[in-house]
Amino acid sequence: MLEVKNLVIRFHDRIGGEAVHGVSFNMEAGERLGIVGESGAGKTLTALAITRLLKSETTEIDGEINFMGKDILHTSDKEMRDIRGKDIGFIFQDPVASLNPLMKVGPQIEEPLLLHTELSKQERQKRVLQAINDVDLPDPDVTIRKYPHQLSGGQCQRVMIASALICHPALLIADEPTTALDVTVQTQIIKLLKRKNEQENVGILYISHDLSLVRRLCTRVIVMYHGDIVESGDVEQVFTQPREAYTQRLIAAIPTRSKRYV
Ligand SMILES: Nc1ncnc2c1ncn2[C@@H]1O[C@H](COP(=O)(O)OP(=O)(O)OP(=O)(O)O)[C@@H](O)[C@H]1O
Ligand SMILES: [Mg+2]
Repeated sequence: MLEVKNLVIRFHDRIGGEAVHGVSFNMEAGERLGIVGESGAGKTLTALAITRLLKSETTEIDGEINFMGKDILHTSDKEMRDIRGKDIGFIFQDPVASLNPLMKVGPQIEEPLLLHTELSKQERQKRVLQAINDVDLPDPDVTIRKYPHQLSGGQCQRVMIASALICHPALLIADEPTTALDVTVQTQIIKLLKRKNEQENVGILYISHDLSLVRRLCTRVIVMYHGDIVESGDVEQVFTQPREAYTQRLIAAIPTRSKRYV
């Protein structure tokens, strides 16, 4: 489904430099793949390159990205806009900031349907209520009329997930989606993502600095360090028998509190 080959990302802005140095990996349809690595490893940049959300004036991208038979780095902007939200959904670290504070929850979940489908107003409404129900938010009829500030952080992330999945994308990119949430809510979101993957076969690319979280959700993991992949493989194998010293340090750095939850 997704094939990244020799991805290189360079900046030509004030800071400049090369941040990703030739990253290659594949992802099968319906797979749950994790990318871990400390801050600055190039995880977010890799995700942004896949959705082509990096500014083209200041960023140079080399290599190849194939997604469902499409050459992402050479598709038109128009086609890319269609792929984003329809074939690739994404959710980010801060759900509250990702939502429009002035817009009710219902219309925000509905937006991808307006952009990417020809469904009638009534059909869209039905899908939105169903989506709210599917992410375990209470009282869909009431929730659609709420504003983001009337919901908790975890509920806002559920809204983001509902919106990201409403067009049934083949891939969901989740960049640190639970970092801003407390541990119990983190667990609920992980479970929700796993259930969505199992029910709808949506592939999940889950980015985190926390290998123990990735272990709970993903089957395979890529470890990034300073813009390179240093290790990859079956998540259990990497977690229990890490080959690279860097991965060993990442595992050792997991606080004991979260170790209890692995
Ligand atoms: N516009 C830019 N110009 C120059 N360098 C940049 C730019 N944006 C990001 N970088 C650099 O690229 C590197 C990778 O950044 P990236 O955001 O992908 O890291 P990350 O792995 O997602 O880290 P985090 O865990 O903190 O989110 C960093 O060293 C960052 O400083
Ligand atoms: Mg990041």
